Amino acid sequence: MAGEKAGEVAGETVGAADDAVIRVRGLVNRFGAQTVHEGLDLDVRPGEILGVVGGSGSGKSVLMRSIIGLQQPNEGSIEVFGRQVTGTDATEDPELTRRWGVLFQGGALFSGMTVAENCQVPLREYFRLSEPLMAEIAAYKVAMVGLPPEAAPKYPSELSGGMRKRAALARALALDPQLLFLDEPTAGLDPIAADGFDTLIGTLAQTMQLTVFLITHDLDTLHAICDRVAVIADRRIIAVDRIEALVQLDHPWVREYFSGPRGRAAASAQKGGRAAASAQKDGRAAATPQGARGHTLEEA
Ligand SMILES: Nc1ncnc2c1ncn2[C@@H]1O[C@H](COP(=O)(O)OP(=O)(O)OP(=O)(O)O)[C@@H](O)[C@H]1O
Ligand SMILES: [Mg+2]
Repeated sequence: MAGEKAGEVAGETVGAADDAVIRVRGLVNRFGAQTVHEGLDLDVRPGEILGVVGGSGSGKSVLMRSIIGLQQPNEGSIEVFGRQVTGTDATEDPELTRRWGVLFQGGALFSGMTVAENCQVPLREYFRLSEPLMAEIAAYKVAMVGLPPEAAPKYPSELSGGMRKRAALARALALDPQLLFLDEPTAGLDPIAADGFDTLIGTLAQTMQLTVFLITHDLDTLHAICDRVAVIADRRIIAVDRIEALVQLDHPWVREYFSGPRGRAAASAQKGGRAAASAQKDGRAAATPQGARGHTLEEA
């Protein structure tokens, strides 16, 4: 790779890891005359929650789709759990694909199926299980994401937006994945629901020892649960680091995003947010931090 990029030493990938769960090298994605990615490199480390940020249309969802094999890149290589997924049929291999779960942008559930039936879709795809066992697993997943048992027989249209997100998460977790992809999981949620969802993801990631690839616009989510944050700009990952280090980066988009009014509000509310999260863990009522999510409401 020629040239030195922000936060990167020439010839080395930012934050490269020997034991990366996801390794992307030299990724190129083009749609007609539009180049979305050009020489994008990224390593996702085992057990981390990696936030992925970038402007709208910068190629976050296309990156995720490339990693899970829904988008064939023009160039480059992607390894997941050490398996090459580009130019191979690895993403057709259930031994690989059942190790990950995906919550797509918009959280699409099958509208003609109940929550329980939605959770059973991946189970039917990969296993032959008895109906009672599948019902039991679905009920367990529904409980795991904090939905009441009454939600299981409901159709998505009968749920609130926040409950739908949780149901989509339950489906993503159906196969007990080691790797979870989340594309804008808190978009459209009110501040309290978004805080609750962040706490849920953080807790599940810890208890299930998940590696999480989390695309978000939500600064509060980044502050609350991400171990590192990767920034997509100029068709590549320009930096991957802890959020405290990223805010120092001299790049126009990064400056505007992290140091604009919303970025400052999220940073200053960070303490309040963490206190709220730990209060929730302790079973106490969690107050929504003032000045944090209030600033991100129109983001969705
Ligand atoms: N299948 C496709 N065909 C043509 N263009 C596409 C396709 N998928 C994505 N694009 C284009 O690629 C660019 C990146 O899209 P992508 O969905 O990855 O953006 P994003 O960073 O996820 O944005 P947002 O934050 O709004 O979700 C956009 O300009 C989009 O129009
Ligand atoms: Mg997107």
